[in-house]
Amino acid sequence: MPELKYISGFGNECASEDTRCPGSLPQGQNNPQVCPYNLYAEQLSGSAFTCPRSTNKRSWLYRILPSVSHKPFESIDQGHVTHNWDEVDPDPNQLRWKPFEIPKTSQNKVDFVSGLHTLCGAGDIRSNNGLAVHIFLCNSSMENRCFYNSDGDFLIVPQKGKLLIYTEFGKMCVQPNEICVIQRGMRFSIDVFEETRGYILEVYGVHFELPDLGPIGANGLANPRDFLIPVAWYEDRQVPGGYTVINKYQGKLFAAKQAVSPFNVVAWHGNYTPYKYNLENFMVINSVAFDHADPSIFTVLTAKSIRPGVAIADFVIFPPRWGVAAKTFRPPYYHRNCMSEFMGLIRGHYEAKQGGFLPGGASLHSAMTPHGPDADCFEKASKAKLEPERIADGTMAFMFESSLSLAVTKWGLKTSCCLDENYYKCWEPLKSHFTPNSRTPTGPN
Ligand SMILES: [Fe+2]
Repeated sequence: MPELKYISGFGNECASEDTRCPGSLPQGQNNPQVCPYNLYAEQLSGSAFTCPRSTNKRSWLYRILPSVSHKPFESIDQGHVTHNWDEVDPDPNQLRWKPFEIPKTSQNKVDFVSGLHTLCGAGDIRSNNGLAVHIFLCNSSMENRCFYNSDGDFLIVPQKGKLLIYTEFGKMCVQPNEICVIQRGMRFSIDVFEETRGYILEVYGVHFELPDLGPIGANGLANPRDFLIPVAWYEDRQVPGGYTVINKYQGKLFAAKQAVSPFNVVAWHGNYTPYKYNLENFMVINSVAFDHADPSIFTVLTAKSIRPGVAIADFVIFPPRWGVAAKTFRPPYYHRNCMSEFMGLIRGHYEAKQGGFLPGGASLHSAMTPHGPDADCFEKASKAKLEPERIADGTMAFMFESSLSLAVTKWGLKTSCCLDENYYKCWEPLKSHFTPNSRTPTGPN
């Protein structure tokens, strides 16, 4: 595969022309009476027309045929996609899943869309407030099929196998340890090259932003220049049997046929685009004296709610870094959180759980459900000699953290057969170290 080109910069106003058609972007106006190369002009709005400039998002696409050239949408099989948060009774327990099983290539062909499984979520699609977490498990490329989501944005975290993503804006290659965001309404099709797995955070009605940096200053965490946007690429391709456009609308899947590939955008400009980001570029900020900063210092992207400082969902990572905090219990502290914490592991071993939490698996610690290091981790870290040490080398764990109380689906609790019934046992060996007659802590030997 030839190396793909990208434009750099989070949320920038960009402009791109397929090099085969120089001058395809109209100059000085968006909607000429006749566009260069006799293309159609089409606007894709990602915000209300009247949003303030800082949040106003739209792009203009110049394409061979407008998106409206399709047969009517018809309802199709939902597979394991759902937005029904009442399928099973709520469960406040700590939940952990073994790696979700990928269908074997030698058995059924499953592509990205037929391999979508909703694991948990909350909120309401129709009022544009909420989120869903999906797991994708697939072994085949989407063939003359594309997908778009009318309900929200997809933040895609590949865990196994790279994704070649065709979008209306161009092509992106997204490897494990990279993420991409495909925003509401954008059509895309995914090629895979092996048995492939990953996680998706879907947010309804809001877009991801870079978190404010406050006293950190102008630089740090995920830097805007490291976000990459595809460059314009088109194919002028007739599809005799019909190209299928799949739409998720109000939580349900629909399909419509059209005669041509939807990736027929010759040029585009605007600030509403898909983008990708390599997690290795995250500049980690952390404690260099003692104690812990809260994990919000690891926020890559946030989807804000209307309450200041409260997210519909944050995307947080736990990247390789130095641990140097003196006189400190260095693993994550025991805690109960008003937020819901969904975690996944792209690779390696998460520092607070050496076994059981595996790449391609997941955990959910719901609102106010206690959790923290397992007994073994506590014993070791309480006695460890505190030298500077590398943490999480070769590892990338992440968290989708939400202010909403998440419901787990029937697939998550039962059908997937991946729920680890023994998760609670990792805390059972925790024992009292209380010494009522001696204030002196028992330190490292
Ligand atoms: Fe936590």
